[in-house]
Amino acid sequence: MTVTAPGVERVVIRKCDTIDEFKACVALQKEVWNFDDVDLMPLRIFVVSHKIGGQIIGAFDTSANHELVGFAFSIPGERNGHSYLHSHMLAVRESWRNSGLGRRLKLAQRDDALPRGFELIEWTFDPLEIKNAHLNLVRLGAIARRYSVNHYGTSSSPLQGGLPTDRLVAEWWVKSKRVINLLDRGQAPEFKIEKKISVPAEIYEWKSSATDRPKAAEIQVRNREEFARAFPQGLAALGYERDTAGNGAFLLGRWDEDWSYGPVKEEVR
Ligand SMILES: CC(C)(COP(=O)(O)OP(=O)(O)OC[C@H]1O[C@@H](n2cnc3c(N)ncnc32)[C@H](O)[C@@H]1OP(=O)(O)O)[C@@H](O)C(=O)NCCC(=O)NCCS
Repeated sequence: MTVTAPGVERVVIRKCDTIDEFKACVALQKEVWNFDDVDLMPLRIFVVSHKIGGQIIGAFDTSANHELVGFAFSIPGERNGHSYLHSHMLAVRESWRNSGLGRRLKLAQRDDALPRGFELIEWTFDPLEIKNAHLNLVRLGAIARRYSVNHYGTSSSPLQGGLPTDRLVAEWWVKSKRVINLLDRGQAPEFKIEKKISVPAEIYEWKSSATDRPKAAEIQVRNREEFARAFPQGLAALGYERDTAGNGAFLLGRWDEDWSYGPVKEEVR
């Protein structure tokens, strides 16, 4: 992993538990997503999540008065009688990115979840975000086998580029062989690749330019259809590859473990 942010070794990851720390999360959320106020998750939700067994985990720069430079936010959920955690946000200040803080925040979620008996942490991510797909599938060992079309409706965040908010659901089965082998033993999962779904490196440029946005929209529709064909065949996104030009591709295969909490209501449309 490339360490690009000087001083990253002085960043500590720990739970947030004061109103001022939650306020800092709200401010960082605004900075990272630049949402309109109506889309911003308010302070009260951080307080509620903290009180009902969610996770608010911060990355604090100990060399700068413990300033918050990243956070992960989860709420508890229930599916078919099983409790799990839904991780709604992961944010790292731009100047601190690509130095491992995002991954450290996720690992802290797992460290907190395991002793509390949770087996599953779930979140959604934009399948056009090459970086996030790599982090989720390759570096953390999550899998994806559900696709949600325009999950949040239209978003005010420029990160979305005005496109429908399509999302893949990342399932992080924190006690699975796949995750234990990867995170605790350093063994990358092996599987037979049955299909690839690619995302061009230019997607970031295309999303952010009004002129090129139709090209991003075209990739989104093409990939949405590809996932819609693949998932009912029992395939799951189990890996991700990037080439030297920055293009990405989901690697789909069959997961050889049977972790599942059964059918999911919101994906039935
Ligand atoms: C997503 C986010 C939290 C990641 O935080 P981070 O601290 O940069 O993450 P890490 O440094 O732990 O990991 C990033 C990985 O992506 C890789 N990466 C960086 N840019 C990339 C790109 N354009 N394409 C592919 N991979 C890329 C890094 O090399 C690193 O992988 P490595 O550990 O194998 O080297 C951060 O980018 C962010 O705040 N983004 C905006 C908000 C967002 O999208 N949140 C997630 C959805 S809720």
